[in-house]
Amino acid sequence: MIILKSRQEIEKMRKSNALVAAILEELKKKIRPGVKTIELDRLSEEMALKKGARPAFKGYRGYPYSLCTSVNSEVVHGMPSERELKEGDIVSLDFGILNDGYYGDAAVTVPVGEIAPAAKRLLRVTEEALHRGIAEVRAGNRIGDISAAIQGHAEAAGFSVVRDLVGHGIGKNLHEDPQVPNYGSSGRGIELKAGMVFAIEPMVNEGTYRVDILRDGWTVVTADGKLSAHFEHSVAITENGPVILSRIG
Ligand code: MF3
Ligand code: CO
Repeated sequence: MIILKSRQEIEKMRKSNALVAAILEELKKKIRPGVKTIELDRLSEEMALKKGARPAFKGYRGYPYSLCTSVNSEVVHGMPSERELKEGDIVSLDFGILNDGYYGDAAVTVPVGEIAPAAKRLLRVTEEALHRGIAEVRAGNRIGDISAAIQGHAEAAGFSVVRDLVGHGIGKNLHEDPQVPNYGSSGRGIELKAGMVFAIEPMVNEGTYRVDILRDGWTVVTADGKLSAHFEHSVAITENGPVILSRIG
């Protein structure tokens, strides 16, 4: 069941997502060789609590951290640890909060120091794919229009999109209907309506789209060990068109 949000609710979701975006922006500033991913986790949690918000992921289905830090061939749900980031890595920072009853959820993948041209291209194309998807978010379109735009852009660049994980509706719950796949056909799926809010989150791989889950039960990695990137925004459909709620500024 898809839960439509009122203008007032979307306003609250804008606040939640603006806080997520601001925290991601602060975390980005800390990224450099030698930083431990657990330090980023602690920082994200402190910043959220200081603002009176609750980290959304901690305790979600038993996930033990506030932040997901997925490095290189890790696709999503990488767990913060004593691991030090090193020059040339890429790291996805995925963060969510619950504030005033509503969730915010967003992610960025950032370079650590200087990265290889191929890695830069993967980051650029994945972020572009997210924005191609967002450009399809309007009343009257269908979910498949978002999916096809993302897939088309990633595959045209020679990359693949992960199938096993998808974007989602978001609101009073972190995950609501509908699912928002990053692959599919335009014109298919449910029709988009004002009041819907989606977390759109393409995961784009350099090589195969196939993924495995590590023995820790969380970390999703590429099956071929090649790089993966992940960008996510929470986006509302309003009477005046789409609004990226998790945009900075
Ligand atoms: N952005 C991810 C999602 O929407 C993060 C969830 S991590 C989890 O699914 F630990 F909370 F599952
Ligand atoms: Co999400």
